[in-house]
Amino acid sequence: MGRIDGRVAIVTGAARGIGRSIALMLASEGAKVVINYQSSEAAAREVADQIAEMGGESMLIQANVSDSEAARGMVKKVLDQWGRLDVLVNNAGITRDKSLRKLTDDDWLSVVNNNLNSVYYCTTAAMPTMIEQKFGRIINISSYVGQAGNFGQANYGASKGGIIAFTKTAALELAKYNITVNSLAPGFTLTDMLSKVPDNVQDQIKARIPMGRFAMPDEIAKAVLFLATDADYITGQQINVNGGVYM
Ligand SMILES: NC(=O)c1ccc[n+]([C@@H]2O[C@H](COP(=O)([O-])OP(=O)(O)OC[C@H]3O[C@@H](n4cnc5c(N)ncnc54)[C@H](OP(=O)(O)O)[C@@H]3O)[C@@H](O)[C@H]2O)c1
Repeated sequence: MGRIDGRVAIVTGAARGIGRSIALMLASEGAKVVINYQSSEAAAREVADQIAEMGGESMLIQANVSDSEAARGMVKKVLDQWGRLDVLVNNAGITRDKSLRKLTDDDWLSVVNNNLNSVYYCTTAAMPTMIEQKFGRIINISSYVGQAGNFGQANYGASKGGIIAFTKTAALELAKYNITVNSLAPGFTLTDMLSKVPDNVQDQIKARIPMGRFAMPDEIAKAVLFLATDADYITGQQINVNGGVYM
C-alpha cells in the first residue's frame, strides 16, 4: 500500500530534473501520475517506463503550460481519462539570466509566461474539479531566488516571488474546500538548469550554502511528497528546501 494509492497527480515539466524526481516519488507511493512535458518526449517516455517497472500507472501529456488553452486542455484530458485530479505540482520553469542592463522584453515575458502564468493557468483549470471533490493539494515550485533575489535573475526572481504571492491568495480562497496550496522554494539543485551556470559561478554559489553542497532533485521531491500526503493542515506556506542558503 502506498500513501497516496489511487490519487491522480499532474506534475508539469516532469521529463527532467526536479519534476522527474517528483513524478517518480509520487508514483512510488501509489499515485497515478501525469507526466507533462513540452519538448523532452524521449525523456518523458523513460519516466513512464520507470513508473511501469514499479507497477505504477502514468499518462504522458505534451503541453506548453505557458499557453492557457494547452494547460486547460491537459487538465481536460486527465479528467476525461481518469475522472479526478487530486494533486497538482506546478513545477515547469525556465531561466534566461541576464543583468537588467542587458535583459530584453522577450527575456522578461518569456520567463514570466513560463514560470508564473503557467501556475495561474494550471491552477484555475484544476480548481473546479478539486472544489467538487472537496479535496486538492496544489504545490507550486518557487525558488529561493523569489525570496532573496539573485544577480542576473530579475525576470526569474519576479516570477518566483509572484508564485509565492499567488499561492497565499489561492490558499485563502480554496481553504474552505479542503484544498491546500503551498509553495516550495528549492535552493540550488543539481539539474540541467543549474548546469547552465558556469563552473566558477557554481563554486561561488556553493561557498554561500551553509550545508556546502547543492541539493539533489530527490531531496526536493521528498518535501513535495510530504505536502501531497501528510500536510493536511498546512496551507499558504513557503517550505524552504535550500541547505540553509536563505533563512
Ligand atoms: N535547479 C535549481 O537549482 C532550481 C532551484 C530552485 C527552483 N527551481 C525550479 O524547479 C523547477 C524545475 O527545475 P529544474 O531544475 O528541474 O529544471 P530543468 O532541469 O531545466 O527542467 C525544467 C522542466 O520544465 C519543463 N518546462 C519548461 N517550460 C515548460 C512549459 N512551458 N511547458 C511544459 N514544460 C515546461 C521542461 O520541459 P521539456 O524538457 O519537455 O521542454 C523541463 O522538463 C523550475 O520551476 C525551477 O525554476 C530549480
